[in-house]
Amino acid sequence: MNVLVIGSGGREHAIAWKLSQSSRVSKIFIAPGNAGTTAHGENVPVKADDVDALRSFALKEEIGLTIVGPETALAKGIVDAFQAVGLKIFGPSKQAAEIEGSKVFCKELLLRHNIPTARYESFNEPEKALNYIKTHEPPFVIKADGLAAGKGVAICLTKDEAQRAIVEIMQTKAFGDAGSKIIIEEFLEGEEASFLAITDGKTVIPLPSAQDHKRVFDNDEGPNTGGMGAYSPAPVVTPSLEKAIMSTVMLPVVSAMEAEGRPYKGVLYAGLMIKDGRIKVLEFNCRFGDPETQPILMRLESDFFELIMACVEDRLNQITPVWSDKASVCVVMASKGYPSVDYDKGKLIYGLHKAHAIPDVMIFHAGTAFRDSRAITAGGRVLGVTSLGITIKDAIERAYQAVEKITWEGAHYRKDIGKRAL
Ligand code: AMP
Ligand code: GLY
Repeated sequence: MNVLVIGSGGREHAIAWKLSQSSRVSKIFIAPGNAGTTAHGENVPVKADDVDALRSFALKEEIGLTIVGPETALAKGIVDAFQAVGLKIFGPSKQAAEIEGSKVFCKELLLRHNIPTARYESFNEPEKALNYIKTHEPPFVIKADGLAAGKGVAICLTKDEAQRAIVEIMQTKAFGDAGSKIIIEEFLEGEEASFLAITDGKTVIPLPSAQDHKRVFDNDEGPNTGGMGAYSPAPVVTPSLEKAIMSTVMLPVVSAMEAEGRPYKGVLYAGLMIKDGRIKVLEFNCRFGDPETQPILMRLESDFFELIMACVEDRLNQITPVWSDKASVCVVMASKGYPSVDYDKGKLIYGLHKAHAIPDVMIFHAGTAFRDSRAITAGGRVLGVTSLGITIKDAIERAYQAVEKITWEGAHYRKDIGKRAL
């Protein structure tokens, strides 16, 4: 069967790599892909959110399954558009994708169904939001309602910072219409964990736990990024906590979406804050996490295509994915300047072959391209160097062994990925 993967990050490289191991997959297309995805299939020069062009391509190439990486196309309704012409596609409908696409919808849903989350107020007028700040005490967590490429959350330790964030989101419109509404949320302390599950709307299969590292510098310092590294499993998610997450968050949310006429299919990604065994939802994403998917898929031993296809065909109840007991660590290497928007591009990358030669290491590409058939940097997050090890400690050592073989001018990465798990 021909399969189409939409996106160009490390997540999509990992998805294409894992699909390539299935005997049922004959050809993989990646739109638009990166230098690394060409090892597993053919890159297609179509943007990841150009729904019409993607649909025409899928019809022309007789694509039997499409897997969507990023949220933008999902929020635009790519699943509805594909299904309308009989194409099979993995992901939530436009209405179901609102769980990520609108923080106000998400919070109201959680409240209506008694699913634990931070207290909040929502605002559609800046004056009222500013007034709220005057009459309450910091810290404040301010979130743009809509999609803001992971940048729509401001943690404000002072009233001044909070006022600036409100002006920037609602009046300067830093994220466009995504900031027409905001929520102001209680600040939660604790340890964060990413919990992903695959669901066909009835059966909910948890994926192994993972933990992201959002800040750019070691010891969680510096600005937020898309994610500087991840590991799986996350020891904070003990077996009993996993049960609790399933019964208090994942299953109730899937039932709630069904009850509200927005049945949810695809990956449901919960960002959670855990404190003293108590779980609160920070947010949902309607897609696989990046970089969490890289270590998670390193640990998948059974057929990924079968798992996804079973979900699309509403027969997840017949599937039991098999996961390795080993640990996996992904270290993200980024361009000079990242996470600011004006990061370096076009730098030659050295050492990929040497790093790749280390056993149990995969170099997942993100912002890379070819110049004269050599890999160059082309994005903020460039590579996700991902290892498998007997223990987390072993996986950390192996990942950094590979990282040290790779260089380009201005490359930077965190030195403490996975440390928290030790
Ligand atoms: P989100 O996009 O909602 O996951 O927010 C981005 C990051 O902001 C999260 O990964 C947390 O680190 C942090 N964050 C979000 N909401 C809260 C909250 N209510 N309290 C503390 N930190 C938060
Ligand atoms: N790693 C965070 C995300 O995928 O949203």
